[in-house]
Amino acid sequence: MATPRPPALSHIAQLHAYTPGLQPTEPGWVKLNTNECPYPPSPRVAEAVRRELGETGATLRLYPNPRSLPVREAIAALHGLRAEQVCVGNGSDDILNLLVRCFCDRAAAAAFTWPSYSLYPVLVGIQDGRSLQIEFDRSLRLPADRIAASGASVFFLTSPNAPTGVGFSTAEIERLLHSFPGILVVDEAYAPFARENALPLLARYPNLVVVRTLSKAYALAGIRVGYALGDPATIDLLDRVRDSYNVNRLSQAAAIAALGDPAYYEGVIARIRATRDRCAQGWSEGHGWFTYPSQANFVFTEPKDTRGRAGPAIAKSAYDFLCSRQVLVRHFPSHALTASFLRISVGTDDEMSVLNQSFAAWLQAAPNA
Ligand SMILES: Cc1ncc(COP(=O)(O)O)c(C=O)c1O
Repeated sequence: MATPRPPALSHIAQLHAYTPGLQPTEPGWVKLNTNECPYPPSPRVAEAVRRELGETGATLRLYPNPRSLPVREAIAALHGLRAEQVCVGNGSDDILNLLVRCFCDRAAAAAFTWPSYSLYPVLVGIQDGRSLQIEFDRSLRLPADRIAASGASVFFLTSPNAPTGVGFSTAEIERLLHSFPGILVVDEAYAPFARENALPLLARYPNLVVVRTLSKAYALAGIRVGYALGDPATIDLLDRVRDSYNVNRLSQAAAIAALGDPAYYEGVIARIRATRDRCAQGWSEGHGWFTYPSQANFVFTEPKDTRGRAGPAIAKSAYDFLCSRQVLVRHFPSHALTASFLRISVGTDDEMSVLNQSFAAWLQAAPNA
């Protein structure tokens, strides 16, 4: 018999929680499903965490800096901004949540393109807010006119887009800022891997908020640090609604160390981009598979079987086969634009070789009927 649930607000009782990618606990998996960095963080990070912890961990008795001020200052210096233009969160998910809390309710809708990051509607649902999905077509061109006419108070643009990897140019984002009257949040979780970003627009558009994370390019998904860049008045709103101590001591120390080692990360990013482009090209030339041009640390590819057939069943067959060989990628079967594709995080060259061997074995094993 099902355990009775305690009574909850009706919108919470009906809420579908966000489904994170699988995090297998047993060893042996080639894990290419949650866009983590395949390389370790800067060696300065572990040193900084050890230093913060000290011999006995005594500093952990004390609360962290409530505003993560040294982290804000490091981020501001990195982007040539002022600390008042930065808010730091417990991952960028925390920042996205703060933005929804500040700008969305039943009367003030939050809009986003679809497909994009599937956390947005969940955050809106938690607030009992109204969300509007603006559908992409297969071209994945930005539906700027529909966004401008949406009437939403806040629009979340994922650039580069997840799960496709397609990036939007600074000029396109600027055009959107002219036509969309609400708050434009550009979720740039993957921007360090892209050619362009929205940062140059911050000085001129007070309705722009750029959201970044240390989870991807900085190889720090486990420490949970993300941040918002925007007008000081908007940052002040985020500060009013966030938890007082939203970023813990060890994470603040790790973030400052990582942000202080740009040369290390330039190398990591260059390797990931090179592996990404080589793999996509290999699948196109070797198997005739279509892959959206990726500006991120993952690729969104449409596998074909040996008879050249693509489609949801083919993608599912490849996904299941890879899983059976302990290679984990992501398949999103619930939308027509994503169901025939696999989203594959860029791993090390060795991991991508294992993936390619598994694809070759799948092609051999796939029924030719
Ligand atoms: C588009 C996008 N935004 C934000 C996030 C969240 O990142 P974080 O680890 O900083 O919460 C992700 C994570 O996968 C993402 O894909």
